[in-house]
Amino acid sequence: MTSTLDSADQHAAEVPEYPMNRAEGCPFDPPPHLRTMQREAPLRRVRLWDGSTPWLVTRYGEQRALLADSRISSDPTNPGYPAPAPVSDEHSEGSPVSFILMDDPEHARLRRMVTAPFTIKRVEAMRPFVQRIVDERIDEMLTADEPVDLVDAFALPVPSLVICELLGVPYSDHDFFQRNSKVIVHRDSTTEQRSAALGTLAEYLDGLVGEKLTDPGEDLLSDLAARVESGELPRREASRMGVLLLIAGHETTANMIALGTLALLESPEQLAELRERSDDSELVASTVEELLRYLHITHNGRRRVALEDIEIAGEVIRAGEGVIVPNDIGNRDPDAFAEPDRLDIRRDARHHMAFGFGVHQCLGQPLARMELRVVYSTLYRRIPTLRLATERENISFKHDGSVYGVYELPVTW
Ligand code: HEM
Repeated sequence: MTSTLDSADQHAAEVPEYPMNRAEGCPFDPPPHLRTMQREAPLRRVRLWDGSTPWLVTRYGEQRALLADSRISSDPTNPGYPAPAPVSDEHSEGSPVSFILMDDPEHARLRRMVTAPFTIKRVEAMRPFVQRIVDERIDEMLTADEPVDLVDAFALPVPSLVICELLGVPYSDHDFFQRNSKVIVHRDSTTEQRSAALGTLAEYLDGLVGEKLTDPGEDLLSDLAARVESGELPRREASRMGVLLLIAGHETTANMIALGTLALLESPEQLAELRERSDDSELVASTVEELLRYLHITHNGRRRVALEDIEIAGEVIRAGEGVIVPNDIGNRDPDAFAEPDRLDIRRDARHHMAFGFGVHQCLGQPLARMELRVVYSTLYRRIPTLRLATERENISFKHDGSVYGVYELPVTW
């Protein structure tokens, strides 16, 4: 009996823990152990904080196949779901962040209600507004005392202003909602802290939906309020959608702006090329795709659970078993991208999975792409001597967040 337990314990010890941190030395690369795992097999077990051992899928082909498979679920209330942290009691009433954690057909029904502002045409109509706020922020930076923290002065305000405009959220409340979303995406926040922050944001959005019911504007929250009024959408769901869009709309893009800038500063030849050809829309677009692939900031892996047995790559994922899909290592699969660890702004990286894949693929991607194209084609052209104002080893990286990036990026010019 004892020997069986010993061998079970020994086997347990061989199952690596997840999540893993990126290496301090090369903080743009996925955790080194994921690379070893990718080389060895397309999927294998990992151990989570609660002792459960879901499957971790590391290769590009299997990642796409699984994310597109209707037999896997994103709903954390399904038994076996590989939760990134303890689930609070409040979740028994449903997740406070709407359809990202739901399955079709309910997911598709709710998602359809908010797709209109994210069509390419509507997003392109916002381009002059985005260009203006990017220019205004740069003007302000240029009159400030150096060094300036690029995160605080530029990377965070630009997408926050954009999502506020789109949703109809007053930007003057940005300190409040940025503080709360920081708690939500911080990996080390306790369950209580995270649900308190989510509750606070949901209450705030609910108040705004209430205001839009009586005083509608030309914005997404007003559209949702109209659906509440017509009985199509419960008010609680409208505010949950607002929470999802507000958090997703600024945290991710902000991190791409700051981390992307750091990666380009560390590749001075490519930065020089981008600066000189900043009116070449093709080069700007391929730079955006390549940085999305290379940096892959949603580094914690998509979480799913199998609803039926799924045969894949010689293994069977049983119904009720958790599946984690870390797209950061998928984006570095040599079978999908030649020399995957090289940043190459000229490559065609459009098939990357930085926006996920399958039915939950990022709704805001046309907006994020447009914002990043405006930023990368403007910032380095307008501040050609932009450089770090500190040693690289002083920069701290968000290993502890659900969105990867830098906390601060002190720059000068
Ligand atoms: C560079 C910036 C961004 C990145 C890297 C990013 C990444 C992602 C990823 C990986 C997913 C898939 C999650 C999953 O499969 O579980 C996702 C979903 C989503 N994103 Fe983004 N995102 C970005 C910007 C935005 C923006 C600007 C918005 C706009 C408000 C947005 C709204 C959403 C929404 C609503 C979903 C859920 C879609 C669904 O479940 O159907 N994202 N995003």
